[in-house]
Amino acid sequence: MNEEQRKYQEITVEQTSSADKKSGQAKDYSQYFQATYQPPDLKSAKKRGKEDVFVHYDFEIPEDMANIGRGKKFLIRTYGCQMNEHDSENMAGILLEMGFESTVNQDEADVILLNTCAIRENAENKVFGEIGNLKVMKRENPGLIVGVCGCMSQEESVVNRILQKHQHVDLIFGTHNIHRLPELIKNAIFSKEMIVEVWSQEGDIIENMPRARKGQFQGWVNIMYGCDKFCTYCIVPFTRGKERSRRPEDVIEEVRHLARNGYKEITLLGQNVNAYGKDLLDSSYRLADLLDDIRDIGIPRVRFTTSHPWDFDDELIDVIAKGGNMMEHIHLPVQSGNNDVLKIMNRKYTREEYVALADKIKEKIPHATLTTDIIVGYPNETEEQFQDTLSLVKEMAFDAAYTYVYSAREGTPAAAMEDDVPKEVKKDRLQRLNEVVNRHSAMSNERMRDRTVEVLVEGESKKNPDVLMGRTRTNKLVNFKAPKSVIGELVYVKITDAKSWSLNGELVSEAEVAQL
Ligand code: SAH
Ligand code: SF4
Ligand code: F3S
Repeated sequence: MNEEQRKYQEITVEQTSSADKKSGQAKDYSQYFQATYQPPDLKSAKKRGKEDVFVHYDFEIPEDMANIGRGKKFLIRTYGCQMNEHDSENMAGILLEMGFESTVNQDEADVILLNTCAIRENAENKVFGEIGNLKVMKRENPGLIVGVCGCMSQEESVVNRILQKHQHVDLIFGTHNIHRLPELIKNAIFSKEMIVEVWSQEGDIIENMPRARKGQFQGWVNIMYGCDKFCTYCIVPFTRGKERSRRPEDVIEEVRHLARNGYKEITLLGQNVNAYGKDLLDSSYRLADLLDDIRDIGIPRVRFTTSHPWDFDDELIDVIAKGGNMMEHIHLPVQSGNNDVLKIMNRKYTREEYVALADKIKEKIPHATLTTDIIVGYPNETEEQFQDTLSLVKEMAFDAAYTYVYSAREGTPAAAMEDDVPKEVKKDRLQRLNEVVNRHSAMSNERMRDRTVEVLVEGESKKNPDVLMGRTRTNKLVNFKAPKSVIGELVYVKITDAKSWSLNGELVSEAEVAQL
């Protein structure tokens, strides 16, 4: 069974604090509990106000909504990043508490939610295709509730397109409105109109939402929301709001809860986790402090994503270098190897600064893998500028890289730029880049041959259910034969073969492990 097919499981509420907390002045937050009709507004989403971040601990499902789902089933289809996957776990938790059951079969679903991603045009096209498919289902089953949520619903153009062309959608709600799901679902069931509730500006954190995790031994833990970096190509600061850090005690309590429940690996999530704590005005606590505290909790593996080179401080490197449950893998998106491009992307570091940081990481954490994200075909990128990206990939010899052709996102500064680079040239650059990237990942994997490594067994391999797959501490994918009983366990595997994107290996017996 793969992740998509796995149903959401038990519901838990993982925080224990009770009183609401704020970091300053009192503020009217009645809107958090009242129904509103609000379409998105990109201009408001861009504003970064100085208002305080409130943390609400009083989430509960209103009594009149607790049984609405009895006898009904829901299905959530998730697109995009881990943050979205994790939001889906919160939505599933809420729906289960409302009496719904989860299903993986769309024919038996009474509620279908599309949790969408806006990062590139092709992500959006996929969702519009799916919205179109659901029209047929809705005709056959008029009682079906179709909802669109996630990052696309934060975009004005998307909401307008749905309002105009996809009237079979019953509900649109934004990334800041997840805690309002009980009310929204109730309204969608009883109203004939399309319900649209998308808050564009948001400063608060809602704790204590019920959560139904998909993973039984791997869990995501949000540590911060939003992004203030405003890279010029990127829609995320608009769809996710300003940077807001969860309080350390709430994060730590959630991690402890997972440890008590036998979780083997957690991944701390944020768009830019290195900025963790900067918005907590009453504290100097940062990501390095959080990791140091989490080191003492009995979770065997701790990961975090995503890092921005800008806020990556020495303390952070030092704490990862301590080893233990801190995994030796750093995902550090570089985007381009050319300083002019980096500058107009608003990345706020130069190629040289990136290289110096990566060198420091490699020196202090010698076995660490370094992976990255790269965009080709930013407006007006020249062949020479692209060559700089190629040369950086060769210089850094990344263990892996996610590569993308630039996609214009409405409302971002880059989308307003003229662009003289033809589509075919961009595609050709992507292909040339991928050749270099793949060569380096193959070399990095080749170095693993004959080594014996610790692997967390995640499940059956997607291609062959007779083979299991898992990941090394450095996040490399390993396929190997072993009994299914080791799924969810840490085992040792001897690497026998290396490919560009994965490794093959053999399970090492317990007797052999004892001699290691
Ligand atoms: N917050 C993370 C990244 C989130 S998006 C970070 O800053 O690292 C993941 C990746 O998608 C980015 O690193 C970037 O490489 C890519 N991306 C973002 N916007 C894009 C766009 N408009 N076109 C193409 N790729 C994009
Ligand atoms: Fe987007 Fe840049 Fe923020 Fe990452 S850091 S989410 S690329 S704006
Ligand atoms: Fe996509 Fe939103 Fe994540 S745009 S990448 S789902 S933050």
